[in-house]
Amino acid sequence: MPRALIIGSGSEIAATRLTNDQMARVVDTNDQWIRERSGVETRHFAPPDVATSDLGVAAAAKALEAAGVEKDEVDMVVFATMTPDHYFPGCGTILQHKLGLGTVPCFDIRQQCSGFLYGLQLADAHIRAGMARTVLLVGAEVHIGFMPWTQENYDYALGVSDVPPTKEEREWNSRFRHLVVLFGDAGAAVVLRASEDGERGVLDHDLHGAGADYEKLCVPGTGFKHRPYTSPEQFERGDHIPVMDGRFVFKMATTHMAAVAKTVLERNKVTSDEVKMVLMHQANKRINEYCQRALNLPDEKVPHNIHKYGNTTAATIPLLWDECVRDGRITPGDLVLMVAFGAGMTWGASLVRA
Ligand code: ACO
Repeated sequence: MPRALIIGSGSEIAATRLTNDQMARVVDTNDQWIRERSGVETRHFAPPDVATSDLGVAAAAKALEAAGVEKDEVDMVVFATMTPDHYFPGCGTILQHKLGLGTVPCFDIRQQCSGFLYGLQLADAHIRAGMARTVLLVGAEVHIGFMPWTQENYDYALGVSDVPPTKEEREWNSRFRHLVVLFGDAGAAVVLRASEDGERGVLDHDLHGAGADYEKLCVPGTGFKHRPYTSPEQFERGDHIPVMDGRFVFKMATTHMAAVAKTVLERNKVTSDEVKMVLMHQANKRINEYCQRALNLPDEKVPHNIHKYGNTTAATIPLLWDECVRDGRITPGDLVLMVAFGAGMTWGASLVRA
């Protein structure tokens, strides 16, 4: 049976960089709190004319180039995002069109911060079953639409306007301060190819979902649970912006990420010494430090990019992969463990030999 081997990757960071100090111009927060509680120092946001599919397309084009794969060789697309360009259709066919791929099947998946790992399993299963040979797997997000501030406030934060937020605007922005400081916009992609190499490729996955507490991390409005599915009242209440019980999510993430990582290592009879890199979802540096201690991993095996980009949701793990491949921290034959936790709740781990 063939295995899915990652043969190329690429990433695209949104253009506009916003520092913690800049954010503090429009939100009651400060650089020290954000760094200490989350590890975020800067994040990038997409300009108004750039959507999730655009970041995905740019990342995918780089991944295809790195893989040396022509567009007509791609026979399946998987697009993971929680911030699609439109309610429907999903970003998969939009990317397919913009990239000039053939009429290949496109899957859109909605597992938020675990989206890339769910996509990896989907791609791997198709390749193992012989239903696809070359799969383009993309994770991309444009979170700026969730941000509560006005364009004028944002311009002030960036220093291109002299008009500070009103007291009311600042209070409104600050209502969401535990959330807005965390996120950033980026896209990242990998190309997976069926490989007969018995050693290399995707080795194992362990994915989970538990919906009982989904309301602790969700977008309460703008959904078809409502009639109509969106309304001015929802916007007035702020129901288009995610709610997040940070402490609850933090606890769940640390518990499940450490446990699922151990499960995958144990059932593959791999020790953490044998793993070259552990790519953890970048929601909060403290979550990952906890998992690092639980797995007894040295610093050099746990790369971070949350300080530069914040939480880029479905893009964090392929972005880390791309950075590590490009700077030589991951080379062919290396064992890599990927671990994520996200809304749903969803979580999982994948073991890959590069
Ligand atoms: N700046 C300054 N102060 C703040 C900010 C801010 N941005 N946000 C909250 N505070 C204050 C609170 O008001 C509170 O003040 P009080 O003690 O006077 O009441 C205090 O800081 C502590 O607030 P907590 O929310 O308890 O802070 P915590 O240490 O839990 O950190 C955080 C918050 C960073 C959100 C953390 O809980 C976290 O990262 N949780 C997990 C997030 C996550 O993993 N999300 C999943 C991925 S997202 C997805 O899947 C869509």
